[in-house]
Amino acid sequence: MKRLTTFSFLVAFFLTSLSCMQAEKPAAADPRAHDYFSFANTDQFVTKHLSLDLTADFEAEALYGSATLEMRRVRTEATEIILDTRDIAIETASFILPSGETLKAENRFGETHSIMGTPLFIRLPAEVRDAEELTLRIDYRTSPRSTALQWLPAELTAGLEHPFLFSQSQAIHARSWVPLQDTPAVRITYAATIHTPPELLAVMSADNDPAVERDGNYEFAMPQPIPSYLLAIAVGNIYFAPIGDETGVYSEPELLDASVFEFADTQTMLETAEAMFGPYQWGRYDLLIRPPSFPYVGMENPRLSFLTPSLLAGDRSLVSVVAHELAHSWSGNLVTNATWRDGWLIEGWTSYLEHRLMQVIYSEARADEENVLGYRELLLDFNTVSPRMQALAPTLEQGDPDDFQGIIHYHKGNLFLQYLENAFGRETFDSFTRKYFSDFAFGTITSELFLDYLDDNLLSAYPGKVSREQAEQWLYEPGLPDDALIPTSKNLDAAAEMAVLWSSGEIDVADVPVAEWSPQAMRHFIDSLDSDLSTEKLNELDAALGLSDTNNAEIGRTWFIQVARRQHRPADAKLTQHLQRYGRTRLVRPVYIALAQNGSDLELAKELFAAARGIYHPLTNISIETAFRRIQEAEH
Ligand code: BES
Ligand code: ZN
Repeated sequence: MKRLTTFSFLVAFFLTSLSCMQAEKPAAADPRAHDYFSFANTDQFVTKHLSLDLTADFEAEALYGSATLEMRRVRTEATEIILDTRDIAIETASFILPSGETLKAENRFGETHSIMGTPLFIRLPAEVRDAEELTLRIDYRTSPRSTALQWLPAELTAGLEHPFLFSQSQAIHARSWVPLQDTPAVRITYAATIHTPPELLAVMSADNDPAVERDGNYEFAMPQPIPSYLLAIAVGNIYFAPIGDETGVYSEPELLDASVFEFADTQTMLETAEAMFGPYQWGRYDLLIRPPSFPYVGMENPRLSFLTPSLLAGDRSLVSVVAHELAHSWSGNLVTNATWRDGWLIEGWTSYLEHRLMQVIYSEARADEENVLGYRELLLDFNTVSPRMQALAPTLEQGDPDDFQGIIHYHKGNLFLQYLENAFGRETFDSFTRKYFSDFAFGTITSELFLDYLDDNLLSAYPGKVSREQAEQWLYEPGLPDDALIPTSKNLDAAAEMAVLWSSGEIDVADVPVAEWSPQAMRHFIDSLDSDLSTEKLNELDAALGLSDTNNAEIGRTWFIQVARRQHRPADAKLTQHLQRYGRTRLVRPVYIALAQNGSDLELAKELFAAARGIYHPLTNISIETAFRRIQEAEH
């Protein structure tokens, strides 16, 4: 029912905007360029700059203060500004005149939509009706329910003494902590003054100063224009340690040494990326390691990627995530998807660049391993995603943009770009890549614009290699084209063979050469075990390899999915620990799903979730609840 309402709403929204666009500019209007997930009337007003003055109130779990939007009027007849909000209480809205005088403006909320939040309508007072530039100040307060903000009590931090706040704005959650035009189609510069308890430090996706004085008042500037989903803040007992000249780590002091060790290659990664993709346009590149409950492993907030501490495996085996978030400094942060429907343009491109970085900084073999694991996840995903949504750039109807964390954008996008690289040769494709990032720098782009650009600069420029129809097949058809390059890895093949030999009893567990393996090979081994292994065999394996006690979050994920699927009861207690140890959606959600789908443990899955949900991020909770609902619906 909810889906239906959402759907009809989006269709209505789409049709209305289509008719508006057609009235204005019939030829150029591309309905697919419309952002379904924002109420903002960006065809009438466009924000250029945002100034925030906010206080972090840990008692009330709220940010309060003001957001001042500097906007440009695009259409002269427009008399009302529409902003995106979610669970925000507005105190006043006023326009600031060039004279400094403040004019109160009439404002009202529209109807709340379950996914998009609540539009805020602000009428222009007569005095500013003709102004081309407008300065709109909104005094407001966020709610403890803000979907972007997680307020963690001290018990859930590494140091156990101070609370911690952090944001996750992608995809459409910036609106739950700042009233603004929450669409990637609009880029803004920003400045912020943040007030915190004096012993805590605030950091943002901006010009953090590693040597700042800790006094509870912090100033930030972000002079490069960014889309709203890259607005980010964290407040906590945060300290800094350098990695290289332009790189470093922010984290609670308890995690600082481990973080510097784990991410020691960040400076090299930055330099390698610049050599391959063109200049890094953002100044410093730092990492923030937050407390565990965070829905994503990494988030590419500009100048300051946010990372989960589950990456601190102690063996640098999970650093491809840093390569990934860093690569977003080009694909995503510099060249941005115009709408969430075009998400593959950032995640697919980034997965491809991540792979390229891993090849250079580590080895071809390691990059191959990650490539195969990604491909296998993609194949699994094809089993659960409707053919229509298997297209890289699906048409029209949309679900919740948060569902788009789907594997398709990442791994199918990656395979498309690897296919192009292979067809045109690395040198040609690399020149294309650099030109693409430079031509669209600080701009936004749709899949269709990309296709035209690809056609002009590659397909037609070097004819006879890949046709436009072939490229369109990647963008608009389900599955993979027949001539896709299928990733292979010698190391993973060897691990899979060992799994078969051990499963069938041909070799002893002591003969499995785990000491020579990467954690990726171990994951592949676990995934390749026979489906009908006895409890004794699984116990033997667990005892020999210490799977239930692993500190590698990805190995844990792979193992506990198997434990859940196979109803391997002896490991239930450790499975419960895994679910309470990590908060990242990727690490916990598939374990709940495997339990819920194993034919008898849906209730157990729900009980375990009820016990753990308090430590998860609200977005993680929503995604697990949605999964349970879908599983139940499918059963009926
Ligand atoms: N930008 C994403 C995280 C994201 C995606 C947030 C969609 C909200 C909606 C980030 O770059 C990412 O892809 N993170 C991945 C890890 C990555 C190495 C594949 C994650 O956290 O799972
Ligand atoms: Zn990403």
